Amino acid sequence: MEDRHWHTAKHALARMPVEAGDTVLDLGCGSGYALRALRETGDIGRGVGLDGSPEMAHNAAGYTDDTAVGFLVGDFDTLPFATDSVDHVWSMEAFYYAQDPDAVLRELRRVLRPGGTFFCAVNFFEESVHTHEWQETVGVEMQLWDRERYREAFRDAGFHVAEQDTIPDREIDIPPADAFPTDDWDSRETMVDRYRTWGTLLTVGVAP
Ligand SMILES: C[S@@+](CC[C@H](N)C(=O)[O-])C[C@H]1O[C@@H](n2cnc3c(N)ncnc32)[C@H](O)[C@@H]1O
Repeated sequence: MEDRHWHTAKHALARMPVEAGDTVLDLGCGSGYALRALRETGDIGRGVGLDGSPEMAHNAAGYTDDTAVGFLVGDFDTLPFATDSVDHVWSMEAFYYAQDPDAVLRELRRVLRPGGTFFCAVNFFEESVHTHEWQETVGVEMQLWDRERYREAFRDAGFHVAEQDTIPDREIDIPPADAFPTDDWDSRETMVDRYRTWGTLLTVGVAP
């Protein structure tokens, strides 16, 4: 999964306005690859990954010996950080698992310092219709928001929306039409729509 996320995540991560010494939180960090990448390229001061799965957090900790990066088990809706204490927040393919996403945005707004950013990247969203069926295989409710809903929710929580766009996955191999249907895709058009047309929706909030 991480490999496929990386196809688009790396473009979004490259846009994060991180500066030396910054503290970055990765919300729903999974294996922790984003913080490892930011430490390698962005010279951030501290990276904290938060994940609801103890196994994920444990594995993420095992993938690095960098003492400036740590991993916590916890839920999005109660962030164990002081007000104004985090410089930037990253989240890839995780935010829509929040059971009260508006409360999570308010909590993010609280922990981010003025000028801090929330980079929220999702592949599961309304316009990307071929992702909707994922809900059938996941045991928890997933928030199926469209682009406008993301912008509205960010603003309602007190963020400015600095940018929003979709980042296509140009790296995933899409076979020729006669190879379809495959195990995962009915037709080449559906796969093109999912990866090349829509890819990842990135919404960036800035704390005033
Ligand atoms: C699809 S994975 C994405 C992981 C990683 N960000 C990536 O790009 O590969 C979603 C992650 O969010 C975590 N997660 C889901 N709901 C959560 C919640 N309410 N609080 C904390 N973590 C949560 C899951 O445990 C999982 O590791």
